[in-house]
Amino acid sequence: MNFLTLLDYSPEQINELLDFSLVLKKYQKEGVPHPFLAGKTLAMIFEKSSTRTRVSFEVGMSQLGGSALFLSSKDSQLGRGEPISDTAQVLSRYVDGIMIRTHGHEIIEELAKHSTVPVVNALTDDFHPCQALADIMTIYEAKGTFKGIKTVYVGDGNNVAHSLLIACAKVGMDVAIATPKGYEPKPWIINEVESICQETKATFQLTNDPVEAMNGADVIYTDVWTSMGYEEETNDRLEIFKPFQVNNRLVQHAKDDYIFLHCLPAHREEEVTADIIDGSHSYIFDQAENRLHVQKAILVALMSN
Ligand code: CP
Ligand code: NVA
Repeated sequence: MNFLTLLDYSPEQINELLDFSLVLKKYQKEGVPHPFLAGKTLAMIFEKSSTRTRVSFEVGMSQLGGSALFLSSKDSQLGRGEPISDTAQVLSRYVDGIMIRTHGHEIIEELAKHSTVPVVNALTDDFHPCQALADIMTIYEAKGTFKGIKTVYVGDGNNVAHSLLIACAKVGMDVAIATPKGYEPKPWIINEVESICQETKATFQLTNDPVEAMNGADVIYTDVWTSMGYEEETNDRLEIFKPFQVNNRLVQHAKDDYIFLHCLPAHREEEVTADIIDGSHSYIFDQAENRLHVQKAILVALMSN
């Protein structure tokens, strides 16, 4: 079993992972040892930069009694053109699980195809499922339920947006997304989200008008306007995305007790103003912390005997 996208997981499996994340969080807070992965090793391949993902996976493996090793494509043979299929087969002989942050989603699919140990997606151009699990865990902790909660994503229809939409739809949360024209989520993902929402009785709203999306929001979410790998588009995007900034004017359309989320890293005064991201509605550091707990739950689910 791999963890490549939440599309492969049922609502029941997602709720089980969330329940287990809450248990692991309690153990960690109370200092209860939980060496579910004693003696196991996770290889972590990074083809893009990271702070949270690297640290939370590495610390998570250590708290589970195992160990993690960091492999950057820059100084492994991957960076010199060794095929991902050979890498998968070699690493499978040494380690008990492989985590990868990479570019095209087809790269992780190729890795998973040739690997005989579980593979975890730590971000591709299309998905960031570990982030989405931490996002909905944070929403659950703040709101106490998913039922009747509306999450609104404003900005680029990117990897983080894709995974958030899928996660919300799977747990039956109402979800809306507002992007500039031409920056919507991929059409096939929109179709998937619509059909999941029909099953889970959640609503889905896609618009190019941030004010329309924001109406009645319980949760406001944004991400950077320029993701890793798209840097040459930065200047154009700064102009195009301006009306999608999360600021005092926009949040007036949300509920009074809205919470603000951002996967981080953030650019203050670009996608969100400092008063919002650093204000009392912001849960960004709980959200970042929850990466640790959900990833530990994923690793135990995939790697324990
Ligand atoms: N949110 C997130 O994945 O952060 P890093 O890029 O720092 O890992
Ligand atoms: N959408 C961003 C998320 C970073 C955690 C990116 O892919 O760069």
